[in-house]
Amino acid sequence: MAKEKLIIFDTTMRDGEQSPGASMSKEEKLRIARQLERMRVDVIEAGFPAASDGDFESVQAVARIIKDSTICGLARANEKDVRRCGDAVRVAARPRLHTFIATSPIHMEKKLRMEPTQVVDQAVRAIRWASEYTNDIEFSPEDAGRSDIDFLCRIIEQAIKAGATTINVPDTVGYTLPEQFGGLIKTLRERIPNSDKAVWSVHCHNDLGLAVANSLAAVMHGARQVECTINGLGERAGNASLEEIVMAVRTRQDIFTCDTGIDATQIVPASKLVSGITGYPVQPNKAVVGANAFAHESGIHQDGVLKHRETYEIMSAESVGWTTNRLTLGKLSGRNAFKSRLHEIGIDLESEELLNAAFKRFKDLADKKREILDEDLQALITEEEIEQVENQHWRLVSLTAHSETGEMPYAKLVVAEDGKERKCESQGSGPVDAAFKALESIAHSGASLLLYSVNNITSGTDSQGEVTVRLSKEGRIVNGQGADTDIVVASAKAYINALNKLQSKPQRVNPQGM
Ligand code: KIV
Ligand code: ZN
Repeated sequence: MAKEKLIIFDTTMRDGEQSPGASMSKEEKLRIARQLERMRVDVIEAGFPAASDGDFESVQAVARIIKDSTICGLARANEKDVRRCGDAVRVAARPRLHTFIATSPIHMEKKLRMEPTQVVDQAVRAIRWASEYTNDIEFSPEDAGRSDIDFLCRIIEQAIKAGATTINVPDTVGYTLPEQFGGLIKTLRERIPNSDKAVWSVHCHNDLGLAVANSLAAVMHGARQVECTINGLGERAGNASLEEIVMAVRTRQDIFTCDTGIDATQIVPASKLVSGITGYPVQPNKAVVGANAFAHESGIHQDGVLKHRETYEIMSAESVGWTTNRLTLGKLSGRNAFKSRLHEIGIDLESEELLNAAFKRFKDLADKKREILDEDLQALITEEEIEQVENQHWRLVSLTAHSETGEMPYAKLVVAEDGKERKCESQGSGPVDAAFKALESIAHSGASLLLYSVNNITSGTDSQGEVTVRLSKEGRIVNGQGADTDIVVASAKAYINALNKLQSKPQRVNPQGM
């Protein structure tokens, strides 16, 4: 019998972006959106257009470019937010507008200062405004997990009557337990007379580490959309993680009566992309996407897996996109081989210009690194996209670093500021510190360094290092990225990328901070 569809709604670029320091530029959102489309995510929540002009432009840019996934924007239940959101998503091939208002006693009384009847009226009005832009309307009663069940039934019935086609039940503060949350979905579906006119969705936060368990319990009771994020990113302890939801449903098809349409082999590339852009590392023991998720340490386990993989593995590493580190390309590979390998790993560059520039970058890397693996290709494309589309006020031209035991390390750099070359140099406690100090001596950003992290992209000492630098200035936090076989160069690139991001960005508001 054909399985029902479980809709995967990714909110990495909206709720995920509400993680401290995880805000994303338009170009970064476009990169993530393309990867989500490649992974066949059904709905992409691209942001909160009323937050700032920058957010509006990002959502609109994603809406213009993505063709296969539905593009959704979030709006508080007021006319200004809804219209701004409608204007941003209406250009999409499949636009969705998601509006929400809080329904728990504590939120209505202390945050909104509204009576329940006013809240219902406001929700209905918001849905009617939304329907001027699209027929695909999602409504969320915020903090449903702590709302009164009778009131939830009342507001949801009215929301469906007003035109909501998806009803999303959020456990906003991650308070519920799986049995309770599954029961809540069951009760709402049974008690609301027009419940069959909408798709039931859930949005669980992970404050008690139960976001995935709660979402799956809801699916068992008829939810057919799950809202989730790559790597479980999101407000506070995060949201349900997409990779865990998808793989739990797929691995336990003996239990679930539905399945997703996700191409799971794109999960690990998506995880790496989001981790690099946001600067949020993935813990090694994280399910599915952690570096150790498929590593077998004990002798007994290794022996078992060698004899028969399924003795200790319930899914294969390849099925979720871990490559076998096989040699893909080398110094002698031509442009066609390069292009077709990119295509095989799901990357189709938009223009010949981008392809040529990426191929040159590949040749430069192949001069330094004998074996170019898929991960190297992904990092190389990210670098080229940063180069081509992001603000390039500062650009690294060259770097010399010196370290010697007993001597103070130093770094000398040549950087271009709006195309004009400038030199800088400094000593430091190590070559990276020296490079950052040298850059600051001419950039004078006044920013504080919140995070510096280095990861190797592949294994081996000839691997490229991927560096993330997080800078904070006057309440704004940005992440810069850089990759190179020389980690001092990768670090300088990451610092420069962060400086470029600090150059421009308007202030924004958080949708749930009203
Ligand atoms: O957590 C939450 O309640 C939300 C809503 C806006 C869906 O993010
Ligand atoms: Zn949320």
